[in-house]
Amino acid sequence: MKIVVIHGSPRKGNTYAAAQLFMNEMAQSGEVTFIEYFLPKDLPEFCAGCYLCLSDSEQKCPHAGYTLKIFADLLACDAMIFTTPVYVLQTPGAVKAFFDHFSWLFIVHRAPPEMFAKKSFVLSTTAGAGTGAAMKTIITNLKFWGINRIYSYGFAMRAIDWDAVIPKRRAKYERKLKASARRFYKEVASGKKRSPYLLTRFMFYFRRGMLKKDMSTQSDESAVADIKHWQAQNWFKSNPF
Ligand SMILES: Cc1cc2nc3c(=O)[nH]c(=O)nc-3n(C[C@H](O)[C@H](O)[C@H](O)COP(=O)(O)O)c2cc1C
Repeated sequence: MKIVVIHGSPRKGNTYAAAQLFMNEMAQSGEVTFIEYFLPKDLPEFCAGCYLCLSDSEQKCPHAGYTLKIFADLLACDAMIFTTPVYVLQTPGAVKAFFDHFSWLFIVHRAPPEMFAKKSFVLSTTAGAGTGAAMKTIITNLKFWGINRIYSYGFAMRAIDWDAVIPKRRAKYERKLKASARRFYKEVASGKKRSPYLLTRFMFYFRRGMLKKDMSTQSDESAVADIKHWQAQNWFKSNPF
């Protein structure tokens, strides 16, 4: 199985250590190839806000040299892992900048049909404050990409380094990480497509209504690329679920 890993920070610290444990445990479960990207190194730009990806094509993105390679891997993979430390209560800016580049992947725009069968895991560590807000940013984006199932695990280190964590607490985290990794491997290997999230379903049908209106009035030029995609997928008569 092919797994894309998007590391939310270049530091090979706590989050990286957790990701290593998770990945090693997955590899113990069966054959896995990991394709790893590190932010911001592998996408070191902010979205320019030029709208070209939305109104025309992702090929026109001024940062396509970075984004298209990542996108090709996201499209071809069986599943994705996103890792994030918590910086000032949220996911680091590099992760937000990453997702800003992929707004065109949203269900309401041009989600590839392949996304609706994929699974994701979001992994986060923090010093003390919760990981919820950091993970939610990622999870919400993935839901809008149409990802079929998103799992997550976040925990507080209360130490700057993995080895400095109280041994009892560290053992608990390692146990949970390994169990989550085994479950995730099994889920991806099963190839099961689960029923879509309510949000995914709602956004799909809501957008379909909007695009139908746009087609009849031809009032929204920015919807032209989306309409072409939806027609190519036959989504005015069928659905990706
Ligand atoms: C710039 C910065 C901001 C941080 N902000 C918070 C925070 O708001 N709340 C918190 O509990 N920990 C915060 N931390 C601590 C990290 O979330 C925590 O140490 C995490 O495990 C770091 O992961 P890493 O070792 O993979 O970099 C911050 C760390 C950095 C470098």
